Amino acid sequence: MEYNIAVIPGDGIGPEIIREAMKVLDAVGRKYGHNFSYTQVLMGGVSIDATGVPLTDEALMTAKNSDAVLLGAVGGNVGGSNWYSLPPHLRPEAGLLALRKGLNLYANIRPAILFDELKAACPLREDIIGEGFDFVVVRELTGGLYFGDRWTKEVDGLRTATDTLVYNENEIARIAKIAFEIARKRRKKVCSVDKANVLDSSRLWRQVTKEVAENYPDVELVDMLVDNCAMQIVKDPGQFDVILTENMFGDILSDEASMVTGSIGMLSSASLGEGKLGLYEPSHGSAPDIAGQNKANPIATILSAAMMLRYSFDLDMEADRVEEAVRKVLKKGYRTVDIMSPEKTLVGTDKMGDLIAQEV
Ligand code: NAD
Ligand code: IPM
Ligand code: MN
Repeated sequence: MEYNIAVIPGDGIGPEIIREAMKVLDAVGRKYGHNFSYTQVLMGGVSIDATGVPLTDEALMTAKNSDAVLLGAVGGNVGGSNWYSLPPHLRPEAGLLALRKGLNLYANIRPAILFDELKAACPLREDIIGEGFDFVVVRELTGGLYFGDRWTKEVDGLRTATDTLVYNENEIARIAKIAFEIARKRRKKVCSVDKANVLDSSRLWRQVTKEVAENYPDVELVDMLVDNCAMQIVKDPGQFDVILTENMFGDILSDEASMVTGSIGMLSSASLGEGKLGLYEPSHGSAPDIAGQNKANPIATILSAAMMLRYSFDLDMEADRVEEAVRKVLKKGYRTVDIMSPEKTLVGTDKMGDLIAQEV
């Protein structure tokens, strides 16, 4: 089969990690006889430099017309850029938000799995780690604070700014359904995270989530306040199966979830909508502090590519193969610096990609 992938390397470490993910995809293609063809798309800072805007209409169309989109990361102050002196809607991150919205990718799936091999890289105490953990954050991605009205102006002689958090019941119901469907195939527990003790949007979230739950009597629903959840993730991550939450809470909690799996360099993600087209990207950013140094961990991106094989192409066996290859390479003791521990073998970004591709 031929699969058309729009590839967006982006900024900072983006091109370095994308290169490794493509290596692994090519290895999958050779082994299983698939043809992955790549169309390079500009987004973020590199697009601003080339076109003046972070995402052109043409780039969005290329993404829309592809079978799946693979993204590195965008943004960051790299190489003395002037990106952040531009108005907000012309900055790198605006391109990413426009892409997610433009493709209607409202469901962001971020699996937080502590591989046995990485227990030494987990900052939690051994008794907390216990048997390890495996949960998934289901984050609403096209609503909430990210897409509400915002302004900055003078009010009563004071510089004043506002951001608006809006959700309607349909937006809540469709993401809740995704969480329940995922939970149904797992340990059948949804923890819906909100701030219902303060926010109206959270009180509606809680109501609608409860209504959706009536269609899933086999799945347990608990509600948790977001501040408590942030604490519970480090106190007892093993309690979670599926965490369902709104856009901003999900952004913050998923970075926290990544760290308990050893490193943000391990957390993959898939952003999905109604059809088969998805956007696959690591949860981390462009890491300007290590860009160009061959230090970045490419595993989050490689595991995101595996999610692409699974969700957009229905290539489950191939996806399993990539995930196994990652585990095998970790088992053999190879580590990038972010997950390094005593007596392991330190490798760079490119070597890690080579090893995983070989293992495939
Ligand atoms: P970041 O995730 O880029 O980096 C945070 C820390 O994690 C840094 O110390 C970095 O070195 C480290 N890190 C991140 N990815 C790593 C990897 N693969 N291997 C090893 N270490 C890794 O977050 P930040 O510094 O807050 O953001 C930098 C820029 O990236 C910002 O402009 C932000 O808006 C953007 N960003 C983009 C995306 C995206 O494109 N999807 C996601 C998050 C942040
Ligand atoms: C992420 C990132 C983005 C987000 C930024 C870059 C807009 O942090 O994918 O987690 O907040 O969604
Ligand atoms: Mn984030």
